Amino acid sequence: MGKALIIGAGGVSSVVVHKCCQNSDVFEEICIASRTKSKCDALKEKLDGGKTKISTAQVDADNIDELIALINDFKPDIVINVALPYQDLTIMDACLATKTHYLDTANYEPPDTAKFEYKWQWEYREKFKEAGITAVLGCGFDPGVTGVFSAYAQKHHFDEIHYIDILDANAGDHGYPFATNFNPEINIREVTSKGRYFEDGKWVETEPMEIKRVYDFPQIGEKDMYLLYHEELESLAVNIRGIKRIRFFMTFSQNYLTHLKCLENVGMTSIEPIEFEGKEIIPLQFLKAVLPDPATLGPRTVGKTNIGCIFRGIKEGKPKTYYLYNVCDHQECYREVGSQAISYTTGVPAMIGAMMVLTGKWNKPGVYNVEEFDPDPFMEELNKWGLPWNEDFNPQLVD
Ligand SMILES: NC(=O)c1ccc[n+]([C@@H]2O[C@H](COP(=O)([O-])OP(=O)(O)OC[C@H]3O[C@@H](n4cnc5c(N)ncnc54)[C@H](OP(=O)(O)O)[C@@H]3O)[C@@H](O)[C@H]2O)c1
Repeated sequence: MGKALIIGAGGVSSVVVHKCCQNSDVFEEICIASRTKSKCDALKEKLDGGKTKISTAQVDADNIDELIALINDFKPDIVINVALPYQDLTIMDACLATKTHYLDTANYEPPDTAKFEYKWQWEYREKFKEAGITAVLGCGFDPGVTGVFSAYAQKHHFDEIHYIDILDANAGDHGYPFATNFNPEINIREVTSKGRYFEDGKWVETEPMEIKRVYDFPQIGEKDMYLLYHEELESLAVNIRGIKRIRFFMTFSQNYLTHLKCLENVGMTSIEPIEFEGKEIIPLQFLKAVLPDPATLGPRTVGKTNIGCIFRGIKEGKPKTYYLYNVCDHQECYREVGSQAISYTTGVPAMIGAMMVLTGKWNKPGVYNVEEFDPDPFMEELNKWGLPWNEDFNPQLVD
């Protein structure tokens, strides 16, 4: 049916590539392109020989001309961006220049400021519309499935949703004293930033990890979770009608927080350049180089993740509560695609989002967050491709 250019060859990309190859009726041909070509070749070697034809290429995705040349050469129907958030705008520019659909899993973040927002990508709306191409923003799990869950709840269960709490629990244990489950630089920038949530039309800011709750997660048990700012809060606050408050909580162990605090205290999480032996280095990038590569955590991580949304609102004049969540087992993911559940829960939705565009189910020119599309075909595919969802109409609430 179609051709996808997959940019990036890290933990998430590996899952996208596996899943595209499993779905060869839709993904007839893929090209894996990244900064380090040997990583693309290693993926090709693992998966070659099936029905999906695989090629690889070297590309610097910060360079628009290189991207345009690659797209003109491979002629994909869609570009799946699973490199880093820093590359979102250059890849969107290249998609515009070549009239190619675009999908990513994280919103743009300038490399020199730890600040992510949709502003920069939303500015492409008119240009994508005029070019007749679709950009799907934030199509991993969170953001991604959390937006699809919200659209599904809005479509089928509520007249108005007033409160959303997004809960992201990872009860996986990789056995290292400290490691991050996806790109350490992006992950640490996210969790050391101030917290923020939306209430009564305003954004409320908190100190990092200031708000803590304990939640008894289905199939996982009790965990400490902390309020963070997360990018889907920005788009859901705009796209969900009647919303009064939306918050995001993520679980962290005391051990993780103690390590992080110590690294922060000694300056290792800073993104301010410093001089070291006559060379300028960024402490956080140096830290990334010494931490375990998340792509290697698969074989050693045991336990489960549980990510979902608790909705409260009104249906036919009556108050209603609805919890939608997915539970994913790290070892099952590893057995299937050789990756832990964090990469899996991001890569599967990215493949499904690209499939929605290629099959014409999500077909509207412009730049959209996932909750702006019909959630039903996506929800169906989640059940088929390894991320089945559960419903609870009487869940424990978060105060
Ligand atoms: N929505 C969600 O639920 C969710 C969850 C987790 C992660 N994510 C996002 O998923 C993305 C990938 O995460 P990951 O854990 O797979 O990261 P990763 O393992 O660090 O992989 C990133 C890949 O991008 C490549 N890359 C970086 N800069 C590049 C450039 N200028 N040109 C070409 N390729 C470049 C890297 O190349 P090298 O190999 O040369 O370094 C690497 O192969 C990130 O944007 C992350 O924020 C989203």
